[in-house]
Amino acid sequence: MSPKEISKKKVSKKSDRVIDSPSSPAGKMVHEQLGLYVYPEKEKKASTLEVKKSDHPKVSKFNDIDLNKWKEYGDIITDSLWLIGSRDRSGMHTAELHGNFIPQIPHQAMLRYTKQGEIVLDTFSGSGTTLIECKRLGRHGIGIELLPSLVKRSQELINKETNPYNVVTKVVEGNSCLPKTTRKVKRLLQEEYKKENVQLIIMHPPYHDIIKFSDHPEDLCNAPTNEDFLEKFSTVVRNTFELLEKNRFLVLVIGDKYNQGEWIPLSFYTMQKVLENGYKLKSIAVKNIVGTRAKRNVEHLWRRRALGGGFYIFKHEYIMFFQKR
Ligand SMILES: C[S@@+](CC[C@H](N)C(=O)[O-])C[C@H]1O[C@@H](n2cnc3c(N)ncnc32)[C@H](O)[C@@H]1O
Repeated sequence: MSPKEISKKKVSKKSDRVIDSPSSPAGKMVHEQLGLYVYPEKEKKASTLEVKKSDHPKVSKFNDIDLNKWKEYGDIITDSLWLIGSRDRSGMHTAELHGNFIPQIPHQAMLRYTKQGEIVLDTFSGSGTTLIECKRLGRHGIGIELLPSLVKRSQELINKETNPYNVVTKVVEGNSCLPKTTRKVKRLLQEEYKKENVQLIIMHPPYHDIIKFSDHPEDLCNAPTNEDFLEKFSTVVRNTFELLEKNRFLVLVIGDKYNQGEWIPLSFYTMQKVLENGYKLKSIAVKNIVGTRAKRNVEHLWRRRALGGGFYIFKHEYIMFFQKR
């Protein structure tokens, strides 16, 4: 039985125990052995938006961080290991779309790679997490989403989020693989934002067929083979390249998958596609995965299977940071 098949099996509530939680004795030991530190959920750090600039700010071309005040940006992660305690569920952020990312990811990316008032493009915008975060951080946002139902639902959520910085957020319905979608975004940029480029691209594609978002033939989750998936992903990188301002950043969020007992490193394959299309790699962060719906009640089965089958259970995904050459 493959790891994927295991998740389909029913399990009793009684055995619903997370073996490697850091709060269990076994989990604590594992965490100590690995030297892991979990960012405490309740520890409140100063927010970057609250830091007042110095009299002569030392600020880079692609964010608002004043290096004279670098010690005060307590909420910005600079390590490559992201152990996030729990999902930010404040405001209009929800976990209702199975497979959406935690808001902390676009939050961190925007603080590091954009200034207030700049424009962020999310090519797989799903439930609108990036655009909701745009409103909170004062960045304009454009999302591209294939499924009309998600375009409608995400726009509802985004519209309900307060807009203290008066930014413009729009979700474009379309297939990110097609040049006509890029042209739609280009027109929107010119007409609505009076600009030619965006300053940050965020990509959180389906991890191929791990989650079935729809039956739509253009949905990347329905690409017939790994190679087709990678070719489609590559097209999105190529099409959107011209939209991004030179020297600015693309952030890719992706995980790996198993197929018939074999680990398929989708993350490294997609990384290669970005590198082949005009970008250089700046960093790779490894982020913990906690309590995904698919695995929530079957932790013990996965562990038994892993012990018997000689594999490891996915507990991480990647956040990759690229700069346009
Ligand atoms: C992993 S989810 C992104 C979730 C998003 N980050 C969020 O937080 O809600 C991938 C999304 O890509 C969409 N998608 C799949 N193929 C697409 C395509 N060819 N063009 C545009 N969107 C696509 C899916 O419908 C799904 O909503």
